[in-house]
Amino acid sequence: MGKEKVVLAYSGGLDTSVAIKWLQEKYNLDVIALVVNLGQPADIEAVRDKALAIGAVESYMIDARKEFAEEFVLPALKANAVYEGRYPLATALARPLIAKHLVEQAGRSGAKTVAHGCTGKGNDQVRFEVSVAALNPFLEVIAPIREWGVSREGAIEYARKHGIPVPVTKKSPYSVDENLWGRSCECGVLEDPWVEPPADAFSWTRDVSQAPDEPDYMEIDFRAGKPVAINGKKKEFVKLILDLNRVGGKHGIGRVDMLENRLVGIKTREIYECPAAIILPLAHRELEALTLERDLVHYKAGLEQKYAEVVYYGQWYSPLKEALDAFIDKTQESVSGTIRVKLFKGNAIVVGRRSKKSLYDYSLATYEAADAFSHESAKGFIKLFGLPIKVWAKKQRKQESR
Ligand code: ARG
Repeated sequence: MGKEKVVLAYSGGLDTSVAIKWLQEKYNLDVIALVVNLGQPADIEAVRDKALAIGAVESYMIDARKEFAEEFVLPALKANAVYEGRYPLATALARPLIAKHLVEQAGRSGAKTVAHGCTGKGNDQVRFEVSVAALNPFLEVIAPIREWGVSREGAIEYARKHGIPVPVTKKSPYSVDENLWGRSCECGVLEDPWVEPPADAFSWTRDVSQAPDEPDYMEIDFRAGKPVAINGKKKEFVKLILDLNRVGGKHGIGRVDMLENRLVGIKTREIYECPAAIILPLAHRELEALTLERDLVHYKAGLEQKYAEVVYYGQWYSPLKEALDAFIDKTQESVSGTIRVKLFKGNAIVVGRRSKKSLYDYSLATYEAADAFSHESAKGFIKLFGLPIKVWAKKQRKQESR
């Protein structure tokens, strides 16, 4: 009888590399490695081959860039989902998609178990395991690094003993995660929240002092909430995101330095680089301001915060998230038009907006002769609108004079 199998989400890094050997030794499992390409700048084919060299019985590579952009990033953009007002959720959006491919590969390979390389301190373990449970509640999950409780030095030692290649290049002091929607950077000196991030913490964006002296203008076309063209040129969503990352990064746009509340109760200092994920929500929000009725915009803002929390907490596959998507999709029907954004010296600034669905009415807004707003109606409106406060104020007076 053959051995039982486990499908491991493999990144090529130290933790998931030692996990291959550890799963074999500790659980006597055949390890099937799964590498998911979400636009991280790694050499994905080399990563796939590395898993085989270490001892995985099979290793698969999935190009999920388009799926990630269309089915994960886009719904989050429609929801303007930004955690704690600043983090556009790149890592949080990626985990449920990786989990989906783990579950599918387990089905194809007849594996009863999947594995991930997360520690016990982060959000990612929650996102992987809750997503796997939602997609196949009968699968087992093993988290080798969490279970083993190994230190970084211990992992390197273990790798050496088992002939697992450890990158000999000057070890980055940071823990980095990257995909199309952003890059995160933690650890090292960044663990002191008072210390300004050193230059080597960044890789996608220039320092503002190095930004060009001429601005770039981006006219972003949206159709039903989806960005479809830049400066009149139609672009696939993946390409459009990559272009904005490049141009935005050149202007020093997209750096976030924040103190963040993890789901597991820890406050953590995070550095993000995410030019496209700053520019697109900015433009998208502005187009909503132009095309959505007032009460809808206000009500949606509350749900946006909830949406971000649901994504951050790993509840991507959940009835609440499905219901939120239905609401948000309905709101996007009229979100079509063009937003003009100026990129300059670290700032992305909206400088123009237009839409066939625009609710902006010049004759209502203008202070010039064409004004069609009913000024006499304002008087009665204020009387009734302010009535409860007036009643309250009179009562206050009476009580004070008693
Ligand atoms: N703090 C961010 C989040 O929770 C980034 C996590 C990065 N993950 C990682 N394994 N390095 O989504």
